[in-house]
Amino acid sequence: MADKKRVLITGAAGGIGLALIEYLEDKGFYALVHVRDRARAEKLVGNYGRTAVWGDLTKPDEIQALAEQAIAAGPLDWIIHNAGILTTSTAKGGHGVGLHGEVNVIAPMVLTRALASHMAKTSSDPVVTVVSSSAANMARAHDYASLAEPDGSSLFGHYAVSKAAANAAVVRLAEEFSALRIYSTEPGFVKTDMTAGNSHMPSTLRWASKIIASTPERAARRCFAYLLENNPPTGSVIQKGKVFKDAKAVWRSAEGQGNLSALLKAAGLPS
Ligand SMILES: NC(=O)c1ccc[n+]([C@@H]2O[C@H](COP(=O)([O-])OP(=O)(O)OC[C@H]3O[C@@H](n4cnc5c(N)ncnc54)[C@H](OP(=O)(O)O)[C@@H]3O)[C@@H](O)[C@H]2O)c1
Repeated sequence: MADKKRVLITGAAGGIGLALIEYLEDKGFYALVHVRDRARAEKLVGNYGRTAVWGDLTKPDEIQALAEQAIAAGPLDWIIHNAGILTTSTAKGGHGVGLHGEVNVIAPMVLTRALASHMAKTSSDPVVTVVSSSAANMARAHDYASLAEPDGSSLFGHYAVSKAAANAAVVRLAEEFSALRIYSTEPGFVKTDMTAGNSHMPSTLRWASKIIASTPERAARRCFAYLLENNPPTGSVIQKGKVFKDAKAVWRSAEGQGNLSALLKAAGLPS
């Protein structure tokens, strides 16, 4: 185990997260498996030779406790921020921000900031990835601060904006932590609880996901095959298995970065 790269995967109970564990274990990684609650995390670890970590990513104290569990577990080479949400809920999380903002943007930033120095100390090549979405390209409103105000009436608006904001967060984190390589990657349209099993989804899309969507196993490959074999510049957004080159992408713009700062400020975080 000592020579294996160690990867923390969030939201790993099912869907793409579970497929990622299996894909990366097959590539020789050791997995720290994150699930929202402890009992499910420990069940998933079972006798497989994995480490269970847990925490609700809408709760600031539980994100902090998760970071402490990961540090206590030993060296850390990779984080995959896979946990995500697509919802019509108008609830807010513990940072006072809508759930798309909390889970898809704030949690990866807070957890990366909490683990960056541990990774830099314990890994020879620390890598952070955020599982984002090509829905980011559909974000027409570039106003990430809107994620502070939940709006169940614009499901894709808010989900897409949150994924554009997640890409902006990757650009920001890459500037903050030059000792780490930090990327965003996307799985395509995949049949999981988020799509096929999601009562918040319009029914036509739910059905479409059952027929035309890819499998979590294929999604895991699409997300990581390129990153395992290549060394793209930190801050890159990987789409369709290669670096997304559109220089006008909103997450790279001063406007996008300014709006990310507004979201962080609304959440009471350093911007
Ligand atoms: N499926 C697609 O077509 C698609 C397309 C593009 C991008 N993605 C992205 O891929 C990632 C994985 O999605 P998926 O399709 O595999 O969906 P999924 O099966 O619904 O998995 C999402 C995971 O995130 C966890 N999660 C959500 N909120 C959480 C919270 N507050 N605290 C802790 N864990 C939380 C869920 O845990 P619980 O089980 O406890 O709720 C679940 O394990 C997401 O970031 C998603 O946005 C998916």
